[in-house]
Amino acid sequence: MITPSAPPRRATKVPRWVRGVLAAGAASTLALGAVAVVSSSASAAASTLGAAAAQSGRYFGTAISAGKLNDSAYTTLAAREFNMVTAENEMKIDATEPSQNQFNFGPGDQVYNWAVSHGMQVRGHTLAWHSQQPGWMQSLSGTALRNAMINHIQKVMAHYQGKLAYWDVVNEAFNEDGSRRQSNLQATGNDWIEVAFRTARAADSSVKLCYNDYNIDNWSYAKTQGVYNMVRDFKSRGVPIDCVGLQAHFTGGSSVPSNFQTTISSFAALGVDVALTEVDVTNASTSQYSALTQACVNVARCVGITVWGVRDSDSWRSGESPLLFDGSGNKKAAYNSVLNVLNSVGGSTPPPTTAAPTTAAPTTNPPTGNCTATISAGSIWNDRYNLSITVTGSTTWTVTMTVPTPAKIIATWNITATWPSSQVLIAKPNGNGNTWGVTIQHNGNWTWPTVTCTT
Ligand code: XIL
Repeated sequence: MITPSAPPRRATKVPRWVRGVLAAGAASTLALGAVAVVSSSASAAASTLGAAAAQSGRYFGTAISAGKLNDSAYTTLAAREFNMVTAENEMKIDATEPSQNQFNFGPGDQVYNWAVSHGMQVRGHTLAWHSQQPGWMQSLSGTALRNAMINHIQKVMAHYQGKLAYWDVVNEAFNEDGSRRQSNLQATGNDWIEVAFRTARAADSSVKLCYNDYNIDNWSYAKTQGVYNMVRDFKSRGVPIDCVGLQAHFTGGSSVPSNFQTTISSFAALGVDVALTEVDVTNASTSQYSALTQACVNVARCVGITVWGVRDSDSWRSGESPLLFDGSGNKKAAYNSVLNVLNSVGGSTPPPTTAAPTTAAPTTNPPTGNCTATISAGSIWNDRYNLSITVTGSTTWTVTMTVPTPAKIIATWNITATWPSSQVLIAKPNGNGNTWGVTIQHNGNWTWPTVTCTT
């Protein structure tokens, strides 16, 4: 089999359209040259965390509180910098099911709607946890609690069905010594975690299902090994699990261990995505922020980083000033260290190895206004690929992009985005020029999106 001479850094599988191009031989590959292939290494360094992470197909997220959505300094900053959102408290059990089987999605929906109206994806957090349980759940045990957990997962996931990128199905279920944490949920039987995951997969097969915990950053720590062994066991027995979240709270006395990348790559080697889900660092040490970012970008399946709040004043550990923006919304030194690491990856990603897919939809649709949108290939990974879009003929354009199901648009940069659905994106200029991009999770369908440009 012919393989690309310079494979993308992280691709291990050649997409069908690339195989087609390769099989057709060099001459027809050249004949496809009408589509300009833009090397991402030629693009300028990105100026926001979300855009910088997107250059390597990753996201950069934050925790958002519904109660702060009327603070325009907060929302402006968050919308500018991030492209993934976790509700800080609004999708937890006590928030969504305050009385048994009476659900309240108001605050969770506020966070969700704010995120998607700003072109961001959402991580759900969290469905089964010993903490932040409503009073009625705290007092349940045995079969009644097991059934209540199942009902909670089913109802909450039904509400957000098809809308979220990830769900933290189970949070913080281990002790520091690697054994299971005692809790009312654990007392229902050791299988409660796998029951939660199986229930979750049945409730929404579109969302990636994660186990999330803190103090699982140091590879040689007993708790890390305990969680690792559970995930390995789940994978070997077919219990549905797609991702592991390392909360990465390097606050309250902990710091980034020197073997952090080993931990990330070891989890990833089990066949799960890994994400840093709740990052904060005491006094926002620049070296620790660089190190944790570098460890993530060095591992192909480390899909993104979420910091646990926007400004220091928003942090649950505000006394440690652990975030990337100060209380006035100014960028801190740690912000630049993170951005630089993300840009160093984006800038060194090799260009795609071939021209456009043979099966692609027309790359330039007849303009219905007096503008034209041209799509170029970007980086390719196993599960997703980037496209760069350049609009000519107008500076006040609207581009509608449609991807074929089951593909999904999972990230954008350099546009103001609205999302009628995961398959349809409406893009408008955000003041950063006329070249912008998307990351598409192909889910098996590599056909490029169609675009129409109107003015
Ligand atoms: C924290 C929130 O930030 C606080 O506002 C809340 O009072 C307590 O929970 N691990 C988690 C998060 O998974 O949900 C926690 O968030 C922080 C630790």
